[in-house]
Amino acid sequence: MKKKIILASNNAGKIKEYQNAFKTLNVEILSLKDIGLNIDVEETAIDFKGNALLKAKTIYNKVKIPVLADDSGIVVKALPNYLGVKSKRFSTSGKDLDNNYLLLEMLKDKSDRSAQFVCVICLYMSDDDIRFFEGITTGKILEEFKGDAGFGYDPLFLVDGSNKTYGEMTLDEKQIFSHRGKAIEKMVKYGRFD
Ligand code: IMP
Repeated sequence: MKKKIILASNNAGKIKEYQNAFKTLNVEILSLKDIGLNIDVEETAIDFKGNALLKAKTIYNKVKIPVLADDSGIVVKALPNYLGVKSKRFSTSGKDLDNNYLLLEMLKDKSDRSAQFVCVICLYMSDDDIRFFEGITTGKILEEFKGDAGFGYDPLFLVDGSNKTYGEMTLDEKQIFSHRGKAIEKMVKYGRFD
């Protein structure tokens, strides 16, 4: 029987990536929807680690089985006061398309378009067994959309060392290059999933 882990997220894009990454492992990733929990944890911490812990702990307290939470976002060098932990709520609507158009608008006159995606996973096995794993991927923000796969800022983010945006990658390719894929790899190496 596969072990069950709850992914403390309502983000369909993230859920797909975790389910893909764990497909060959002895673990079943269940989303909040899968277990009938309708909760949106408010992300009030000042950094990725704090928010990942907040989400994992809140859900663990409800389900009392292992939880993993992912807090992630994009950090754009020319916009130091925006995005980061607030990436989801960048535009007023918070919708992916509006966020992307606002990013293009705010970078219009900037010559430095470098950026990095950060992911911090909190693996909450129990109240005294909590671990964090971080992944970072550098790249740059294009001047137009390329690719329609993925979610969030994927079509604008050209990955360093690749000629593709996240939006042009399959789930397997994104897993190799992405901030999330790197954090997941560290977590899997930590070895609680055999
Ligand atoms: P949170 O982790 O729920 O706070 O939200 C993360 C936000 O960062 C998402 O809503 C996206 O806007 C952005 N984001 C995080 N990871 C990715 C990714 O892999 N691709 C594109 N956007 C991402």
